[in-house]
Amino acid sequence: ELGATPQTIVDKIDLAGGIVEFIVKAPMIAKSARAGQFVRVLAWPDGELIPLTLADWDEKEGTICLVVQGMGTTSLGINKMKIGESFAGIAGPLGLPSELHHYDPKKQTVVFTAGGVGLPPVYPIAREHLRLGNHVTLISGFRSSSLLFWIAENERVGKLKAEFGDLLDVIYCSNDGSFGIHGFVTTPLEEMLKNGKKSKGRDIAEVVTIGPPLMMRAVSDLTKPYGVKTVASLNSIMVDATGMCGACMVPVNLDGRMVRKHACVDGPEIDSHIIDWDKFLPRFGLFKPQEQASKVKHGF
Ligand code: FES
Repeated sequence: ELGATPQTIVDKIDLAGGIVEFIVKAPMIAKSARAGQFVRVLAWPDGELIPLTLADWDEKEGTICLVVQGMGTTSLGINKMKIGESFAGIAGPLGLPSELHHYDPKKQTVVFTAGGVGLPPVYPIAREHLRLGNHVTLISGFRSSSLLFWIAENERVGKLKAEFGDLLDVIYCSNDGSFGIHGFVTTPLEEMLKNGKKSKGRDIAEVVTIGPPLMMRAVSDLTKPYGVKTVASLNSIMVDATGMCGACMVPVNLDGRMVRKHACVDGPEIDSHIIDWDKFLPRFGLFKPQEQASKVKHGF
């Protein structure tokens, strides 16, 4: 018995190469979570607020699942936390849930492109489509086979395949060719688009992309000329996550007008074809010098 409070870590699994899965007691969030939503995490009292898209939740157990890739001071610090330790605060669920449409599973498919740690946030959205009866094609890309996770039979994607069978096609690819198709998530996607915008005979109904910003842009640039609806789930820099501070601003082009959307309240999912990626991408590097200085200060 861990004496779990609402933000206590009850399980921790090292997935691969600095990527860690946490199961955290958070009954209120687990009760109301919907696919596509995120939480705002304050790891320790004087820490930084970071957004993490929900990777899973269990209402009965009152837990949520968060997957963290150690990159900056906060994420590296979180990944050092142990079972039984508590986060200072987790707020959520935040953001709009994924918009789900019903498609004919015999004729249409929803294509997901997940890059690296984009797989955890993709997972509950793909599952929701499957539960709705939609056919899903999951393109899951990793840098290399040493970074694979959740794909074994007894892990999340493996179990999804066992549960939904033919409703789910999974295509793996790796940048170095050590697993699955040699290439990026755009490699099989481009083939589908060139092949009449079809995957195994099904029309691509929409594409959902989650992963590094450059990858999402590449997916968006690829689908745009084909007119295939594409949604990007944006893990922007966030502070208040209530639409007030402007940190998560996404410049979008609405019929020639530049409009500011905010990933925290208008997203995290946004139509990727209206995002002004040239203006948006540099925002991810805004605090690089401070991040580097902070890592040095904290000995990472
Ligand atoms: Fe402040 Fe979105 S995080 S406006």
